[in-house]
Amino acid sequence: MSRTPIIDFINEYNRSGTVRLHIPGHKGRDLTGAEMLDITEIRGADSLFEADGVIAESERNMSALYGSARTVYSTEGSSLSIRAMLAAAREYKGELKVAAARGCHKAFLDGCILLGLDPVWIRPEGETKGICSAKVTAEDVRRALDEDPEINAVYLTSPDYYGNMADIPGISRVCHSRGALLLVDNAHGAYLKFAGSQHPLDNGADICCDSAHKTLPALTGTSLLHISASAPKELAACAKEAMALFASTSPSYVLLCSLDRCVSELERDYAQRVREMCAELEIIKEQLSAAGWELIGDEPMKLTVSALAKGLSGRDTAEELRRRGIEPEYADELCCVMMPTPCLAAGELQRTASALTDIIRSAEGNAPAEPLPPLPRPEKALSPREAYMRPHRRIPIDEAAGRICARGALSCQPSVPIIVGGEIFDEETVKILKRYSFFEADVVE
Ligand SMILES: Cc1ncc(COP(=O)(O)O)c(C=O)c1O
Repeated sequence: MSRTPIIDFINEYNRSGTVRLHIPGHKGRDLTGAEMLDITEIRGADSLFEADGVIAESERNMSALYGSARTVYSTEGSSLSIRAMLAAAREYKGELKVAAARGCHKAFLDGCILLGLDPVWIRPEGETKGICSAKVTAEDVRRALDEDPEINAVYLTSPDYYGNMADIPGISRVCHSRGALLLVDNAHGAYLKFAGSQHPLDNGADICCDSAHKTLPALTGTSLLHISASAPKELAACAKEAMALFASTSPSYVLLCSLDRCVSELERDYAQRVREMCAELEIIKEQLSAAGWELIGDEPMKLTVSALAKGLSGRDTAEELRRRGIEPEYADELCCVMMPTPCLAAGELQRTASALTDIIRSAEGNAPAEPLPPLPRPEKALSPREAYMRPHRRIPIDEAAGRICARGALSCQPSVPIIVGGEIFDEETVKILKRYSFFEADVVE
């Protein structure tokens, strides 16, 4: 069995000298470096959504690494895998009523709009600060399921953008004791499989998606949809069809090659290097904490720092890092997020640690920043789909209070909505949106 069946097929095709009277138009001519791998569903190349050849073989290789019942490839990111996850759960359950932790990515809401789902929000006890925070406890989930016995699926974002991880074992026990499926957006955690079995599949999730491109050596747009070995087998059976519902009929073979190659990288030494990087980060986090940074989240390969008490917003920190030649992943008022992987060059992580130590020392004596307000909990008037389908218009945010939101208010990144379609703007929400630099709102007419 080949470890890179898709790449092997394409290499052989390139060697064959076949006349290419098929798509794509570049005919394999090297223009950007990617054309040689970029083919279409010619004979022998298999077909992503009806895979039974080289793509199916590569997916089986990946599935074996993750210990899943089935792993299917996406060349349109976890954005596609999330919509497919919801479609597969709907197909299996017939009627789907999903409870979700807030702080979810826009792809979840798009899936709800497209499939006509009306999510119930699981609210954590206490205040939530920072727009990306998606952490809920098993108790929060139990409460949501008690309040609405019709809920038959729970959707979590774990890890969230900040690196907070949910108690998946505890939450999966609650879900399964009530007959509810557990769906996890693990876009940030593909590497968790190799960092001490912290992957959702090892902890009770029925179905989850991983963005390969976020933490594995894979190209942007690559994602995995995994169905757990302990999940109902109907989920695995309908996974491809669920993907195909939302996907392009021309998936990129360049991205499929990247996933194919990723398997062999994981097998070679990447998994071991993930463990080494997590161990190094653990020490660096301790040093940064001692230097005065607040460390956020429990994800082992993410570095999220906050220093509001020293007058530094996450955006200030990001600017300071950029001045020192370091580009972080994301920053907001609360914190600055960095995503190292084993592909960093030698010394780059240590250089980042030194820069952060330097930044926090220079902030000594600063007045604390104004504390962040808790996130709003706006009332709901319509489902996201109803709100999306109604006529709508854009108005200044100061005129939005009392109006129904037509489209979620979000920016890229993190593409996490503060208010979602169908909810009513109130004064508090408007104030917070302005703090996050939203000055217009889409409202239902
Ligand atoms: C939490 C979360 N889920 C899903 C996605 C979508 O993933 P992708 O970029 O692979 O489509 C993102 C993207 O940043 C994300 O942060």
